[in-house]
Order: sequence, then structure tokens, then C-alpha cells
Amino acid sequence: MNFGSATATLLLILSATLSSAAHGFAPSASSRSTIAAFSRLDGTATPTAEKSSSDTFQRSLLAAQLANSKKNGLKKAGADAPPVNIGWDSHKPVDKAPDSLVRPGDGPDGNYPMRARFEKMIREAQISITDAIAKIDGKATFQEDCWTRANGGGGMSRVLRDGAVWEKAGVNLSVVYGSMPQEALQAATERGVDRAKGMAPGERVPFFACGLSCVMHPRNPFCPTMHFNYRYFETDGGVWWFGGGTDITPSYLNMDDMKHFHGTYKEVCDRHDPTFYPTFKAWADRYFVINHRNETRGLGGIFFDDLNDRDPEKLFEFAKDAVNSVVKAYGPIVEKHKDDPFTEQQKQWQQMRRGRYVEFNLVYDRGTVFGLKTGGRIESILMSLPETARWEYDHHPEPGSPEAEIMDAFRHPREWV
Ligand SMILES: *[C@@H]1O[C@H](CO)[C@@H](O)[C@H](O)[C@H]1NC(C)=O
Ligand SMILES: *[C@@H]1O[C@H](CO)[C@@H](O)[C@H](O)[C@H]1NC(C)=O
Repeated sequence: MNFGSATATLLLILSATLSSAAHGFAPSASSRSTIAAFSRLDGTATPTAEKSSSDTFQRSLLAAQLANSKKNGLKKAGADAPPVNIGWDSHKPVDKAPDSLVRPGDGPDGNYPMRARFEKMIREAQISITDAIAKIDGKATFQEDCWTRANGGGGMSRVLRDGAVWEKAGVNLSVVYGSMPQEALQAATERGVDRAKGMAPGERVPFFACGLSCVMHPRNPFCPTMHFNYRYFETDGGVWWFGGGTDITPSYLNMDDMKHFHGTYKEVCDRHDPTFYPTFKAWADRYFVINHRNETRGLGGIFFDDLNDRDPEKLFEFAKDAVNSVVKAYGPIVEKHKDDPFTEQQKQWQQMRRGRYVEFNLVYDRGTVFGLKTGGRIESILMSLPETARWEYDHHPEPGSPEAEIMDAFRHPREWV
């Protein structure tokens, strides 16, 4: 990893920001707010960013932009005001997604071959992951919705509802063409200054973003919730980076399950770089923290961002390996526990842990908070929340109980492998 001190603060912000994606169900409205803020802050024309589950990217940009304006002491009027209509809902539903959502000139023979390659890779992963999950579920299947945008890009969401094993599972792909102020680019990467070369001062930098994100909420309290997100980001000026991660949120601690999940990702990481697992595992532990509780949301996994310190080919292979290991890391844990007997009290504990998930999302998730403050579309912003959750007044698990056992792991992040 190669993070200059100049970017360290920003990366922290991005981490916090991106954790909203950790919550999966992508709030389109926050993208809308972000875009509106951008267009106001640099005072230029209509932004071209995509609606849809591109929240992750949009929030990165937002964070970058906010960090920068803070650094410069700029507090431009209107940044927090409700956004004007920027056409965030202007995507066009299509019956079938085109073979590629990237613009024609970007393809394998074009100037930007990685764009099409990454899209192809995550499209294949979306199909293989949803096929495998539907098979484990045995009852429900994924419903696919596709859309495109006039200026290029689009998305495909696959959502499973009311399954035998999962209450709700979504795997969304998005391809985004947008533009951002140069300051955001410079704040987002050390090489931004170089790469924005040739652009007129104040000119917005066109970018491309492509990602696959997912959250799965099972019914059985012994089956963990799982989230992943893998993305590739590139500007027309040639700055690029990879980001992503997979993490797990159980309600009960099972050492074998954690060894399996973390062990699978350690193997994946080790195949590419022995420093990856310790670095990205620690990053996930710092990233999913509910600060007012001083506890983590779940039991981590791997998380990385702004990864661009080596041949993109190598990072592509790493991202591909990681996204294609989701089912191997998560599937067996769910299969093992999907029919475990449980009590009403255990179900309630799962609901309380989902309450903590809600706390994290509403209190710390920058995308959500910003979206709410800026008059985003409420339904879209809150789509990231679970259907049900529970708060009991001053609840403390009994010392020595299984609930107390996992609380200890939430308070003191551990090494699992
Ligand atoms: C995926 O998109 C669908 C439809 O836009 C949405 O209902 C679902 O919550 C999204 N899921 C994730 C994980 O973003
Ligand atoms: C949070 O928990 C850690 C680990 O138990 C502890 O070292 C730290 O002091 C706690 N911080 C606060 C503010 O309570």
C-alpha cells in the first residue's frame, strides 16, 4: 500500500464514507445529493453521474470534496441545502442489459480496456454468486432489474426476497460515468495532481466507476449477515484504483465459522501478496466501528481502497479472486446453520444486533446522514436498513452467555487465523 500522508485523512473519511456500502442496499438519493453538492460547489453545469447503486463512488467523491473544502476553509453557501432536481431518477429500465454497459469506445480495443474487463468480471461474478445463493436458499430466486443511461453506463440489480434461508439478499452491479471537480480528484489520490494535467483550471474531470455490491440478511440467528463490495475507478486522465472487501456480521460467535471465513480470505490474499491479509483485515476492523458503543458492527473480514501501487493486472486478478471467493467463504457457514433450532430469545438477540446495524448506518454513515440532511429520497436512503430490528432498554447480556461472548469479540477485535 502506498498512501502518502496527504491522503491519509481523506482515506479515513473515505473509509467511514464507504462503510455505508457495507450496509449494502444502495441509497440512490444520496448519490443525487452528492451530485447536487458537486454541481453547486464548483458552480458548473449539470453533473452527469449515474443514479443507482453507485453510492459508494458518489460518496467517495463527496467525502473527497468535503475534505478538501474543509481544508481550504471553504464553506460554500448552499452545500447543505436541499438539492435541485438533477434527474437522479432518469435511468431507463430495459428488459435485458446490453452485453456491456461501458461506452463502445471504452471496450477491449478502445482506450480503456480495463473498464470493460472489470465489468465483464463482475457480471460473471454476479451471476455465479446469485446462482449459488439461490441454490442454497432452495425457495426464492433472484429477480433482475436492468437499466441504462443516455450518457452511458447503467446497472443490474438482483434481489431475492422472502426466501427459505434469506429474508433479503441483493447483489447490484453498476457502471457509472460522471465528472468531479479537480480538487476531489487531487484529494482522492496522490497522483491526482499529475493526472489532472492538461485539464483547464476548474474543469471537471470525467470519471468511470464500476462495482458490484451486496448485502445478505438470513433468517436464522446462527447464520451471519454478509456484505461485499468490489469496485474499479478510473478518470479519463488516467488515474485509477481498485477498492473493495468482504465482511461478516454474525449474532453468535462460532470459532470454526470465523476461522473458515477469515481463513478463506487469508488464502485469497496470500495468493497475491502476503501483506494483504494483515493490512486489509486491520482496515476492516477500524472501519466497521459503532463509535458511541465502542464496538464493531460485526467480525470483520477484509477491506481495501485506493489500491493502485502495482500493475493493474495484478490488482484485477486479486479483486477477481476475492469476489469469486464470496460463496466459498460464506456459503458453507449458512448451509451449516440454516436449520439450526433457535429460541425466541435468540431471534430477539439477532434483532438487537440488527438494531446496532441501524445505529451505525443512521449515525455514522456519511452517505445516509448527508442524504437525509440534503433532502434526498427517504425511501432510497433508508433502503439500506434491515426490515426489522429491536431495541431493549439498557440490555446487557448475562455474563458468561453466548451473547456476552460475542460482545467481547465486538469490543476487542481478534485475530481469527
Ligand atoms: C439493489 O438494487 C435494488 C433495486 O434498485 C434494491 O432494492 C436493493 O436494495 C439493492 N441492493 C444492494 C445490496 O444495493
Ligand atoms: C474502547 O474499547 C477499547 C478496547 O476494549 C478500549 O481500549 C478503549 O479504552 C475503549 N474506549 C473508550 C472510549 O471507552
